Amino acid sequence: MDSATNTNVGFIWGSVLDEGVHQTFCINHIMVFDEFQNKGYGKASLSELDKFAESKGCDGLWLSVWVKNSTAKSLYEKMGFEGTYLWMQKKLKVEKKG
Ligand SMILES: CC(C)(COP(=O)(O)OP(=O)(O)OC[C@H]1O[C@@H](n2cnc3c(N)ncnc32)[C@H](O)[C@@H]1OP(=O)(O)O)[C@@H](O)C(=O)NCCC(=O)NCCS
Repeated sequence: MDSATNTNVGFIWGSVLDEGVHQTFCINHIMVFDEFQNKGYGKASLSELDKFAESKGCDGLWLSVWVKNSTAKSLYEKMGFEGTYLWMQKKLKVEKKG
């Protein structure tokens, strides 16, 4: 929500993961609607989320991103995220039964 114009520009949601010693905020999804992209809303919402997560006692944030989503990766790196683990897949040709 852009409070200055009272416009819904997208959403970000996630939850606190309580790991006992650590609390981490897991971002499930961030989306800025097409017409509002590249205007700073992504950066602004992640900055706000930092403050929210800290207020909940979190000492980090976690998210996953498709390797080919270079726009999102660029945003996350600018906001201080670092890659930690890379999922890999290999496609196989299988004949469908039936
Ligand atoms: C990824 C997304 C959330 C970025 O939000 P945004 O409001 O457009 O981002 P910002 O305007 O704050 O830009 C922040 C950075 O993102 C990158 N970026 C944004 N738009 C970009 C574009 N069209 N091309 C390349 N990089 C871009 C830039 O690195 C930019 O930094 P800069 O302003 O210093 O150049 C938005 O593009 C989006 O909702 N995409 C579709 C959904 C999606 O992929 N979500 C992430 C799932 S993991």
